[in-house]
Amino acid sequence: MEFKIIDFDDLGNGIARINEKVSFVKRGIKGEVVDIEILNEKKNYSNSIIKNIIVKSPDRINPICPFYDNCGGCQFLHLKEECEKEFKINKARKFFSKCDNFYETTNLNYRNKVKLHVKNGNIGYYKEKTNDLVSISNCYLLNNNINRVIKLFSNYFDPNFNGLITIRENSQGEIILVIDGCFKYINNLKNYDLITNLIYNNQVIKGKTYFIENIFDYKFKVSFNSFFQVNRLGLERIYLVLTNFLKDKNISTSLDLYSGTSVLGIHLAKYSKKVISVEINSSATKDALVNLNLNNITNLEVINDKVENVIDRFNLIDLVIVDPVRSGLDKKTIENLKRINSKYLIYIACSMDSLKRDLSYLSDTYNLDNLYLVDMFPRTNNVESVAILRLK
Ligand SMILES: C[S@@+](CC[C@H](N)C(=O)[O-])C[C@H]1O[C@@H](n2cnc3c(N)ncnc32)[C@H](O)[C@@H]1O
Repeated sequence: MEFKIIDFDDLGNGIARINEKVSFVKRGIKGEVVDIEILNEKKNYSNSIIKNIIVKSPDRINPICPFYDNCGGCQFLHLKEECEKEFKINKARKFFSKCDNFYETTNLNYRNKVKLHVKNGNIGYYKEKTNDLVSISNCYLLNNNINRVIKLFSNYFDPNFNGLITIRENSQGEIILVIDGCFKYINNLKNYDLITNLIYNNQVIKGKTYFIENIFDYKFKVSFNSFFQVNRLGLERIYLVLTNFLKDKNISTSLDLYSGTSVLGIHLAKYSKKVISVEINSSATKDALVNLNLNNITNLEVINDKVENVIDRFNLIDLVIVDPVRSGLDKKTIENLKRINSKYLIYIACSMDSLKRDLSYLSDTYNLDNLYLVDMFPRTNNVESVAILRLK
């Protein structure tokens, strides 16, 4: 069946019209004419794959990665980088009617953390929307040292190894390798200088449970089980957006909600008389307390709790920053943000869909002043949004 791809959907797949129905064509590019195979038929739409490209888009490129056909790790290696950028900006304009700036980072080798699945000794990502493992020996999104660690495992194939491998790297090249599962060659890994810190089923085998990361002049302790932004340059871009906003404001008290190791709260503390960070994860909260000392911050209080458990105690706040997980904000938090009525609310979101939903709930209280995109996850269909809201 030959069809024209008429547009992109919100995930970056192609859209074709088949009779009265829409088909979402995996990796189809707007303008292409393709021969497709329907994978599953629903009441109002279908999902399909390309069997043959009849008219190829000039925006299509050869994917650099040999695992791209099956792997669910990224979505845009077949598309020119400028088209990916256009897709992300267009999506923001469609959702929010604005996009004030798009901050680029680096297109490849930007991720400082990866979580890989292990099944019968094979290591990789899951295929999109499945638990089927796609074995990999390299990923172009990851920092080079992380790829070197992945390659080491090919010397030690253990068919009884099932579990998870998490690898992180800081800007000094220190690695934290965390292995969960029974791996018979664990002691061999200790001997590699590349692996500075090794944690096996929650036991430290080599080095420490954390490293220190530097962002501009700040220092952050990051433990193996604390959240940290996966793209260092992306975090620097968020700081720039915040600095531009904060530099001429007179902020008395501010909240840093979903604060992780307080990377945003510590920056905010330079522009605010008092800051309160709230974070659920106890490891990240403990790191945050160390980070206050590392950065000589004395006006930041850190609370280890769920935001929804404590938000009803806050009053007289000038600025709130929220940086929740992909699913966005819960109803109680949204209601309390409205009650707190801070002059400014900055919403940092890794899911534009959750941001769109939550801004619609907040729209009776806040106007969206500015929307910035930070390309935290190049070559994937995700992008970080920084939305600056002002009280109506
Ligand atoms: C996207 S991260 C942002 C962290 C931090 N702002 C940063 O930039 O590094 C979201 C954080 O929210 C925390 N979290 C998730 N659910 C939470 C909740 N209900 N209450 C408080 N913190 C929560 C997670 O542990 C994680 O550290």
